[in-house]
Amino acid sequence: MIKPDAVRNGHAGAILNDIIAGGFTVVAMKYTRLSEENAGAFYAVHKARPFFGELVEFMTSGPIVAAILEKENAVEEFRKLIGATDPAKAEPGTIRNKYAKSIEANAVHGSDSDENAEIEGNFFFSQFERF
Ligand code: CMP
Repeated sequence: MIKPDAVRNGHAGAILNDIIAGGFTVVAMKYTRLSEENAGAFYAVHKARPFFGELVEFMTSGPIVAAILEKENAVEEFRKLIGATDPAKAEPGTIRNKYAKSIEANAVHGSDSDENAEIEGNFFFSQFERF
């Protein structure tokens, strides 16, 4: 997911370029905006965290780009491409190092396991939206 900060700041195109240059294939993609209910459900695993309310508020603050990406070892490879959750700790050249401002407004989300990639892909896309 390209988060609202990156879309707002005009970085969506550059981020997609980096993703494709990184060898990922786009299986599905959409430009949409999460409702409070959607964002709460997407980040349900973080419900007990102190930052949950702010995270939901931020994630609903503007449109996002959701995508399913394919590559060998995609979850790990995508996490390498985006860098650490906190952009201050993200390696130079990573997407969060280049385009993110803070741990909350950190430009992109990537699934943390194959199982969650499946769940998160199904959250956004039907079988008719995948190519
Ligand atoms: P993401 O990879 O989308 O998964 C959960 C998100 O919660 C994470 O990126 C951050 O944007 C956000 N997050 C994690 N830790 C914090 C924190 N300490 N304060 C605010 N937001 C956080």
